[in-house]
Amino acid sequence: MHSFTYRQQHLHCEDIPVRTAAERFGTPLYLYSAETLRDHYRKLHAAFRDFDPLICYSVKANSNLAILNLLVREGAGLDIVSGGELFRAKKAGCPAEKIVYASVGKTEEEIRDALEYRIHMFNVESIPELRRINEIAGEAGKRAPAALRFNPDIQPDTHAYITTGKKETKFGMDIETVRHTLLNQGEFPHVDFRGIHVHIGSQITDALPFQRTLQKVLELTEHVQSKGIALSALNIGGGLGIVYENEQPQTADDFAQAVAPVLRKINLPLILEPGRFIAGNAGILLTKVLYVKDTPAKRFLVVDAGMNDMLRPSLYRAYHEILPVEQKKSEPCQPPRPADVVGPICESGDFLGKNRTLTVNEGDLMAVFGAGAYGFSMSSNYNSRRRPAEALVHEGKISLIRKRESEDDLIRHEQMVP
Ligand SMILES: Cc1ncc(COP(=O)(O)O)c(C=O)c1O
Repeated sequence: MHSFTYRQQHLHCEDIPVRTAAERFGTPLYLYSAETLRDHYRKLHAAFRDFDPLICYSVKANSNLAILNLLVREGAGLDIVSGGELFRAKKAGCPAEKIVYASVGKTEEEIRDALEYRIHMFNVESIPELRRINEIAGEAGKRAPAALRFNPDIQPDTHAYITTGKKETKFGMDIETVRHTLLNQGEFPHVDFRGIHVHIGSQITDALPFQRTLQKVLELTEHVQSKGIALSALNIGGGLGIVYENEQPQTADDFAQAVAPVLRKINLPLILEPGRFIAGNAGILLTKVLYVKDTPAKRFLVVDAGMNDMLRPSLYRAYHEILPVEQKKSEPCQPPRPADVVGPICESGDFLGKNRTLTVNEGDLMAVFGAGAYGFSMSSNYNSRRRPAEALVHEGKISLIRKRESEDDLIRHEQMVP
């Protein structure tokens, strides 16, 4: 479900015509729906209600403070992967005991700060990291709460760059290492071992890889518990897929039903870390057609948003639906011809969509759907482009939640040598 619908041929976000947002804040513009964000959070929470889950929204998906705060107010915790995300979590008012911290490369400073803030748990990705956490906790006279990230060697059907549970990837630890560490936890006296973390990848539309992963987790937990090791947490990560094109992803209920039997057997307090499922379809990227460029080989719709604003098509060849904000009845000025929707960046990889048949003209607005997750959060200033503004429709009003960057922002941290 999402709240971007056409009414009398005008695209609306909830009850607000999307054109209004573009007129107020300019383009390119990310526009989000609070109703959709809440709905997705609530659906997932309801689906797992028998497990009383802690849902730690994955900050990396969309880290705007307004969005974090909205979800925190719903009761969400946050899944973070850097000191910067910890800073955002604090600013968004997230209680420390609802923050979990993954990342294969936590620095000493990041570990110290997270420990100081008393986060709920580190998701530890390697033995060297565990040693470092143990040392830092010892120096601080504390015990560091930790789950071990288990790499189950499972291949979900998704893009290679967002597969994280295969043994060849840099994430987590193999079953033997996790088992051995839990059984010999006395070697890390300043770590409070709480449980297991798994996250096998992103945009996974089918329950089977999750079921297979959890079956392996069950073997692991049963084994260590039979040796007297107490566990108090199972974090099953994120990864739930959404509709970008014609995928048929499992619903929150389907997912919960598919994994409930094995979760009951594991029988540990449950944490989830969804990002895309909550934010993906809660946002669009609004962009204006600058030029309709016809060449003998191809038509290009040159728009004012580029790969710096929205990287997913270029990086993963990800498909995003692109539609005109106004569905016109009148004849198009241009005869229809499939076109590549491209940005102004100096790279042939700078496209938002390929071979789309769209009846639009110069000056028209278009919406790139499914832009709420890994959209703005992966944006950059490449080609010295100012990052776009972000706005949120919330209780019948649109609010600017991030100003468009200024030219001064571009050079704020630079200086010339004397
Ligand atoms: C450890 C961890 N948890 C959760 C997520 C969120 O994944 P998704 O947005 O697919 O739910 C990610 C994404 O990369 C992740 O690395």
